[in-house]
Amino acid sequence: MKNLIIAIDGPSGAGKGTISRALSEELGYRHIDTGAMYRAVGWLAIHRGIPFDDEAAITALASGADIVVEGGVVAIDGHDVTRAIRTPEIDKTAAAVARLPQVRAVLVARQREIGKRGGVVMEGRDIGTVVFPNADVKIYLDASEEERARRRAGDSAHSGGPVEQKAVAEAIRARDLSDSTRKASPLTLAPDAVHIDTTGMPIGEVVDRVRTLVKDRTPA
Ligand code: DC
Repeated sequence: MKNLIIAIDGPSGAGKGTISRALSEELGYRHIDTGAMYRAVGWLAIHRGIPFDDEAAITALASGADIVVEGGVVAIDGHDVTRAIRTPEIDKTAAAVARLPQVRAVLVARQREIGKRGGVVMEGRDIGTVVFPNADVKIYLDASEEERARRRAGDSAHSGGPVEQKAVAEAIRARDLSDSTRKASPLTLAPDAVHIDTTGMPIGEVVDRVRTLVKDRTPA
């Protein structure tokens, strides 16, 4: 069977992580969370005391760093940052880092290298538009703002404790705005992506739909 490249894009809280993980396990594919790369670079920039507007320094950091985002572990230069990158502070830092075109160029090149042989489910914001415009399957997952905020507020690993849904909704709105209005590769729906609104849909149902799409695209 051909080793497909499956691109899953969409805003935060749309269910990309859960769906990508389930799908990659089912297919025996690698699961690459590209958002975790931007988060890890943001974490390292803080760790090294580099300001976010120093694009040259952060780009050098991103190109020299050893970044691992597989098997449920996120590590950068030997630091296990799996949990440390899921905080409101890193939410903001990652969005700032992701606005820098040169940093994006470095990370996009790495993502292409990782995924070029296929057999990969890659999630992010620009996978179907920029990283792999010829991906075999492109899915854009979305959900209403309320539902995305509800999911994020209930995600204690992310929030570090019970959080006010209103504050989470505001943070999500700010990040959506940053991700969709930035100059470099803003979050947009690829014209050939299948748009799935997951509002009110149980996970199992979303996975079923995605599985069917993948089957339809798999050459016999
Ligand atoms: O998916 P996430 O919330 O972990 O992503 C962290 C940040 O990185 C978020 O602001 C969006 C950005 N991002 C991006 O610009 N391009 C990607 N391919 C993945 C994430």
